Amino acid sequence: MKGIVLAGGAGTRLYPLTIVTSKQLLPVYDKPMIYYPLSTLMMAGIREILIISTPEDTPRIENLLGDGSKFGLELSYAIQEKPEGLAQAFTIGREFIGDEPCAMVLGDNIFYGNGLSKKLDDAREDAKNGKATIFGYYVEDPKRFGIMEFEKDPNNKNALNVKSVEEKPKNPKSNYAIVGLYFYPKGVSSMADDVKPSARGELEITTLNDMYLKEGRLNAQLLGRGFTWMDAGTFDSLRKATEFVSMIEQYQGMTISSPEEIAYHMGWIDEAKLKESIKAYGKSPYGKRLEAVLEGKVVL
Ligand code: DAU
Repeated sequence: MKGIVLAGGAGTRLYPLTIVTSKQLLPVYDKPMIYYPLSTLMMAGIREILIISTPEDTPRIENLLGDGSKFGLELSYAIQEKPEGLAQAFTIGREFIGDEPCAMVLGDNIFYGNGLSKKLDDAREDAKNGKATIFGYYVEDPKRFGIMEFEKDPNNKNALNVKSVEEKPKNPKSNYAIVGLYFYPKGVSSMADDVKPSARGELEITTLNDMYLKEGRLNAQLLGRGFTWMDAGTFDSLRKATEFVSMIEQYQGMTISSPEEIAYHMGWIDEAKLKESIKAYGKSPYGKRLEAVLEGKVVL
């Protein structure tokens, strides 16, 4: 299974912060924003990851993450010339994806909560079996998101039947936003070829999801209570994300979304590699917490 982090976009909503840097490199408390979505793909067991960003930001992101070997990953990079829509990631990534299933996460989406690994495993398994998965999260302002209408499956209390998906509807049919994490079976690039631009001129991910829905190949899972999802793309949400991460990390004394920690616990990097990172992070609290991981004090 392959993975894509889509980390482009103009970032104008965060001007002047993003005039000379990428939104996805801004800090969310103690680490760059892109560490969070990257960690989410890693939690799904995905090691071959394509990072897509703008012509200006791609080299900056590559400067930070490199070839991914410090995280036990194989990272590659591709440029999206213009932000023409989320579904474009799958045509840009056609060669990288090849004939495999592929997950995509948005570069400003943060996921935190117990039970995430199990949900990701299920989505991965379903993608192998030809089905796409979207995730729903309760929001108070549904007009701002892709929205899913669904009902619980009467024959299986854990399953949801998706009835419709709509991008930023004027009259939302539910309060469940479709978050920026998607799993697709093999063949997603050819599906994406058929996505037509929406009224606002974008190749919408929601159109792609609707195509899977019409073929009876769209699953949904809910991220329920006890789960936190944030998109950190505005000043307010960025501030809230920072407050949230700092609170959890200070209360628990553990790091949220550390790619090195995940890689070490997954057995993708050895002690020597982790020690290299600890050294590189110097005296920062992030580095200090990795020391506790190395000493075996923290288990995943
Ligand atoms: O965050 C979840 C929402 O993300 C979903 O509920 C919506 O269905 C989905 O369309 C998307 O909505 P947004 O309004 O948040 O999309 P936005 O245009 O802000 O793009 C999301 C991120 O992807 C943002 O960090 C910029 C990046 N991006 C966006 C576009 C359109 C790209 O890298 N390339 C693009 O072409």
